[in-house]
This record gives sequence, C-alpha cells and structure tokens, in this order.
Amino acid sequence: MTHVRQHPIQVVAHRGASEEAPEHTLAAYKKAIEDGADALECDVRLTADGHLVCVHDRRVNRTSNGRGAVSALELADLATLDFGSWKSRDEEPDWEHRPEDREDTSVLTLERLLELVADAGRRVELAVETKHPTRWAGQVEERLLLLLKRFGLDAPESAAESPVRIMSFSARSLHRVRAASPTLPTVYLMQFVSPRLRDGRLPAGVGIAGPSIRIVRNHPAYVERLKAAGHQVHVWTVNEPQDVDLCAGLRVDAIITNRPRAVLRQLDR
Ligand code: G3P
Ligand code: CA
Repeated sequence: MTHVRQHPIQVVAHRGASEEAPEHTLAAYKKAIEDGADALECDVRLTADGHLVCVHDRRVNRTSNGRGAVSALELADLATLDFGSWKSRDEEPDWEHRPEDREDTSVLTLERLLELVADAGRRVELAVETKHPTRWAGQVEERLLLLLKRFGLDAPESAAESPVRIMSFSARSLHRVRAASPTLPTVYLMQFVSPRLRDGRLPAGVGIAGPSIRIVRNHPAYVERLKAAGHQVHVWTVNEPQDVDLCAGLRVDAIITNRPRAVLRQLDR
C-alpha cells in the first residue's frame, strides 16, 4: 500500500482559492488554477434529484442567498441561487462580485468542475470529499463513480497515476469507493487520532492520511509514524505561514489551503 510521493509538496486549493473568491464556485476554482494550484479540493453532496453539487454545509444558508438543505432541494432550485454575493459582503477586498458572470457564482455541479479540470491545459488533480455518506447509503459514492467513469477517471492504472482521489471522514465511504474501484486513491480525514490508529495504520485499504493541522501541530511525531507505515500525508487546512513551515519541515505530501497562491510563494514555487 505504498504510494509515497517524491517532493515538492503538492498545494491543494481548499474549496478553490476560497480566501479570495467564494468557496466552491467556478470563480474560486478558476482562480486556483490561475494561481498555479496543483490540485483542487471540493466537498460533494447529493441534491433531492440525485445530482452531485459542490457545497460544504448541509444547508445553503451560509454560502448563498437561499435557505434549506441541499438534500431537500433540486438542482433547478439551487440554480436560481447566488453563491457569490455573500463573499463581497465579507471583508475580503480581493474579489469583486460581477452579476454578469453568473455561471461563476451559480451552484457548481461536480460535472462542471470536472469539465473545468479537463480544460485546464495542464495537469490539475482533484480531491473530492464525500459529505454525509451514511445518510445516503452508498448513493453518493455510486453517483460519484458513475460521473468519474464518464470522464474516464474511475479506474486509473494505479493510485499513483490517478489525477483524482476520494477523501472522507467516513471509513465506510472510502471502503465503498475501494470496493468498486480498487485503484482509485482514498484519503482518510482525521480530526483526532483514534487510539487504534495511533501507530500510523489507517483503515484497511486506505493509502493516504488526511490529518488536520491541529493534529500535526500537537503530534508532529504522528506524521513520521504515518510515513514510516508507507502512507502519504495530506494536511488540512493550512493557512498560517508557520504551519506551512511546519508541514514543509515534516515533508508532508500535500498542503490543503484556502490560500494556494501564498503557499506556493512561501514554498518558492
Ligand atoms: O480537505 C479536508 C477538509 O476540507 C475537511 O474539512 O470541513 O473543510 O470539509 P472541511
Ligand atoms: Ca472538505
């Protein structure tokens, strides 16, 4: 289960370039690609009519001008909402909401994001996080793999070759993915380290560890254990310069950040 990456550290745009542009919008992902991010992170949820959309929260209230749970809304309902203007009301000065660029701030489907990546003109990897997979009893993973299949991305020759990886806090979700597509790389996200995994092991079949920056700050030796066990280490969400230095010093494999441009600069890239 070894797919240890040679450095440089991969810089992953968390929800797109989400410090500067509204998270999970086409605007944020275009910006991340422009900024030179190696990979894009996105969360996916199922709409009431079975579409995978890139939305972090269970409800759309925080990031749009609408209300309600994604799972209770159809894609057509979501398409009427504006996922951008909340950001221009935010204190961020770098992003200007232009109502004429409607697609840039509409709800983003995973399908549209895959098209963007396919048209990027360079290799841009995608880290897709399944949200609340237990609620849907396998449907999130099933739809995800079907969609990846349409783009020829569901069955890479090897995990190391794959431009797409699937992340989750749920080992069960990753297990479903691996059962259907054994070569697709999977990332086990961790907010804390459960006692049975303290020696650096991950749930069966998972190759990549996704510890939070808080874990890395508090237990840097854990990163060494993960690496010694043959795992890549992808750390989220790393926004502070001192944390970037910490991750670089520990030679992690990927830094997931809201500020891809700043992190690339800090890493002299
Ligand atoms: O990249 C992993 C990270 O995104 C997990 O936390 O809440 O931002 O989805 P969250
Ligand atoms: Ca996420």
